[in-house]
Amino acid sequence: MQLYPAVDPIPLPAPIWLFKLLHIVTQALHFVAVEMLLGGLLLAVLLSLFRGSSLSHVTARAMARRLTVVMTYVINLGVPPLLFSQVLYGRALYTSSVLIGIYWISIIAILTLTYWLLYQFTGRLEAGKSAWWVGLSAWLLAGFIARLLSTNMTLMLRPEDWQKMYSASAMGAYLPTGDPTLTPRWLLMLAGGLFFGGLWMVYLAGRSTFTAEEKHFIGGLGGKIAVGFGLVYLAAGLWANSVQPDAVKEGLAGNGTYAFYKYFGLAGYGWLALVAVAVLLAAVAGFGKIAANWLSWIVVLVAVLTEVMFTVYRDGVRDVTLLSKGYDVWDRVVVTNWSVVGIFLVLFVAGLGVIGWLVSVMARATKVMEGAA
Ligand code: HEM
Repeated sequence: MQLYPAVDPIPLPAPIWLFKLLHIVTQALHFVAVEMLLGGLLLAVLLSLFRGSSLSHVTARAMARRLTVVMTYVINLGVPPLLFSQVLYGRALYTSSVLIGIYWISIIAILTLTYWLLYQFTGRLEAGKSAWWVGLSAWLLAGFIARLLSTNMTLMLRPEDWQKMYSASAMGAYLPTGDPTLTPRWLLMLAGGLFFGGLWMVYLAGRSTFTAEEKHFIGGLGGKIAVGFGLVYLAAGLWANSVQPDAVKEGLAGNGTYAFYKYFGLAGYGWLALVAVAVLLAAVAGFGKIAANWLSWIVVLVAVLTEVMFTVYRDGVRDVTLLSKGYDVWDRVVVTNWSVVGIFLVLFVAGLGVIGWLVSVMARATKVMEGAA
């Protein structure tokens, strides 16, 4: 039986490796922003409960102020990987998106509400009002969006179920829960959120807009949180890996159709090593009580590399799973349109240059101390 819809007769306009490279880079950056949102928001909510402590209040408000900006990155860095994955995996991803269509399209409304609640959360903190219930509502909605994304990313890997589901109902009202990889995968992202949230606090502790007392509070607390949830994140990663089918583990060891997937598998070890390094750095901040600019930037570098490794491994899991069910992402007709590829790359680099310039303007702007009212 034909499991997948027919392939689009229009050839791909660029090499598959280029699509995959751009997909992995933009996806990893989306994940950095997602983890900051999922973890940073929950930590800011918890800190906002201690309204009597000025250190907690300043930290919660500093994180909340940045979260509205983080959300723009979540969205804008989510669009490119969505486009690249539709190009590479459209026959699988469109099908699963149709099956959960009502929930899938509802992400736009839920996201808008989450964004509005984030602004309300920040506004209430600025005004010194109780804000935890607003922030918690935003976090629950963001966690639900994450659940919907995990649902779709796992359903797209189960072509054997689509026909049966669609024949039973074409309403698009499914919200499947039966896949054994779904919940570990979702919880891995949530645990990662608190780990990255702690690392984000270690980064903030190196900023000059905080007083020495605030730096020690933020770095010390963030470091301890990152140590604790770094270990939870490691355990969740091992769990999410252990529930993968044997065919996937074999493929990632290089014993499948394509031996080069062993490098995707090796990225899993890279992820383990980088999380361990990040936990050590967090321990330096948390227990060694060191809040410094150099530590901030090393933590940023290690955090971004951790997400890159995670994304490569996750990409390998998807490719090998689909391969075991007859979907070969490398098997497509490619007619490269080099002039378009060239224009794209020039604009891509120019875009990075503009972002760099924006960051430099921000860095040169007059600093206002975070504790100021
Ligand atoms: C609060 C907002 C959001 C949260 C919490 C969130 C969270 C997540 C999570 C947890 C995953 C991984 C799912 C898994 O593999 O198990 C994911 C993947 C993804 N997200 Fe987001 N996301 C958000 C918004 C967006 C938006 C607005 C877009 C696009 C416009 C987007 C695009 C994507 C794409 C394309 C993937 C995976 C694609 C692939 O694997 O090829 N996300 N997101």
